[in-house]
Amino acid sequence: MTRPDNDTFLRACRREPAPYTPVWLMRQAGRYLPEYRRVREQAGEFLDLCKSPGLATEVTLQPVERFGLDAAILFSDILTIPDAMDRGLRFVEGEGPVIDRPVLTAADVDALPIPDPGAELGYVPDAVAAIRKALGNKVPLIGFAGSPWTLATYMVEGGASKTYGAIKRMALDEPEVLHRLLDKLVRAVSVYLNAQIAAGAQAVQIFDTWGGVLTPQAFREFDLPYLRRIVNGLRPVQDGERVPLILFTKGGGAWLEEMADTGADVLGMDWQTDPADARRRVGQRVALQGNLDPAALYARPERIEREVARTLDAFGPAPGHIFNLGHGVSPDVPPEHVGALVEMVHRLSQRAAEP
Ligand code: CP3
Repeated sequence: MTRPDNDTFLRACRREPAPYTPVWLMRQAGRYLPEYRRVREQAGEFLDLCKSPGLATEVTLQPVERFGLDAAILFSDILTIPDAMDRGLRFVEGEGPVIDRPVLTAADVDALPIPDPGAELGYVPDAVAAIRKALGNKVPLIGFAGSPWTLATYMVEGGASKTYGAIKRMALDEPEVLHRLLDKLVRAVSVYLNAQIAAGAQAVQIFDTWGGVLTPQAFREFDLPYLRRIVNGLRPVQDGERVPLILFTKGGGAWLEEMADTGADVLGMDWQTDPADARRRVGQRVALQGNLDPAALYARPERIEREVARTLDAFGPAPGHIFNLGHGVSPDVPPEHVGALVEMVHRLSQRAAEP
């Protein structure tokens, strides 16, 4: 296997010059696409869709083909690991994920298995391999997992939460129980990501969606060390080259320097972080990914174009910017606006060919 024909994304991850700024979008596959909703209906449950490598391949490719994105992302979910740990994960229509048997005690933690990506999670590397095959050499494929802290929030809270009361109580009253859970999750996430890389993933992203609800001290105690352990535990080689690792902590703008110190290759940025300020703080140590407000996609295309231009400008002309949203595509945005966005990023970032 060689580099993909369109290697703009991998070039930007490595801070090498590229002819234009590459773009992919978190949650680029999903309910805003009518062709996704059709396949989803056919699959029945959302998790059944994730567990069918054939259907997961189909929905992974849908936005790439429709919009000409510069990278594909594995269609799956961060909650595949909690699902395989067998605590009764369900997706409830209109409510989001629910975990029937939350993890509350040291005994609960000790009873959790580390899921085997060669067995109960085998559908994930199978999907990676099937997607690579279907993509041919067109664009690279990004694998992903949730951060230990973010997975722990779902497992302790029993689903989505507004207050994070249960897990924050655990962090304060029984920190050793939480550390034990995070230690188990870091091992599960590391083998899981290594299996995705072995199956063909050309980059991997850690979604630390709920890191931003922590205090700086709690981030340094319960989140950052586990992110660092994942970075250190990866065997990141694909096609003879290093597999870039992207860390995305939503709400983590204040901690970019510390995140760059983990050894990650790329930092994902939410829309509340100022790109020029971020670049000044991390220098050229890492590439930066982001960070258009996902709500910009509700606006008229002319208005979206101004926001795209402003975002490209703020990141500046130096190599090492991957265009993305500051969080996922919302299910109710018009698909044409996503298409317009991709076209605008490509056109407005066009650079003269190197002499
Ligand atoms: O980005 C992509 O296109 C790849 C697929 C992907 C999904 N989830 C598909 C999905 C990725 C990368 C994720 C990650 C994920 N899952 C995160 C981190 C990213 C983020 O958005 O912060 C989180 C927190 C989850 C957990 C999760 N899964 C939630 C909160 C939900 C939403 C529940 C709801 O009903 O809105 C899901 C379900 C989910 N994951 C959907 C998709 C397309 C919608 C499922 C459907 O009903 O068809």
